[in-house]
Amino acid sequence: MNVALLASGKGSNVENILCYFRNHSKIKIALVGSNNPKSGALIYANNYSVPTLEFSKKELETTTILLSTLNNHDIDLIVLAGFLLKIPESFIDSFKGKIVNIHPSLLPKYGGKGMYGDHIHKTVLSNNEKTTGITFHYVNENYDEGKIIAQFPVFLEENETLSSLKGKISQLEWSKYPFIIERLCNE
Ligand code: GAR
Repeated sequence: MNVALLASGKGSNVENILCYFRNHSKIKIALVGSNNPKSGALIYANNYSVPTLEFSKKELETTTILLSTLNNHDIDLIVLAGFLLKIPESFIDSFKGKIVNIHPSLLPKYGGKGMYGDHIHKTVLSNNEKTTGITFHYVNENYDEGKIIAQFPVFLEENETLSSLKGKISQLEWSKYPFIIERLCNE
């Protein structure tokens, strides 16, 4: 199975997934794509000798550069790991049930446009939530609304800070995403 990772930011999930699958017998990370030339994901991909593709938001929306590159690499599953652009409908048609996203909250809470990264955690903290977590879901044409695959909770302490909460969320994301990918590749 060939997997493509798409990311826009720091790329810590990409690094973790690349490390986990580096010698995997059945699953190969065959491409890392990003709309952000400064994304850490591209550097990590280079470190693991995985081909990369950079593209702009406009190229994603108006050209087939990403779709044809995915096809050229025989990609079976697209994994979004902090990818912040909307996936065009043409992708959703071509990769039905084969695009997975991670979201750092318990959807449907704190989902939708503009809800990503620190925005989510700051809102969770200011609402005095006792529990938050992470969600894995299939991607459809609406932000954060595809069918849920799995959710895992994170419990907030009295003295929880943005930084401590981000740390807990990241640890949980790193520990779960590789197994979710394996599960989807085996379906
Ligand atoms: C992760 O926490 C991921 O759940 C979140 O972005 C972060 C990326 O971190 N995704 C979203 O907010 C999607 N709406 P990373 O670049 O270090 O992997």
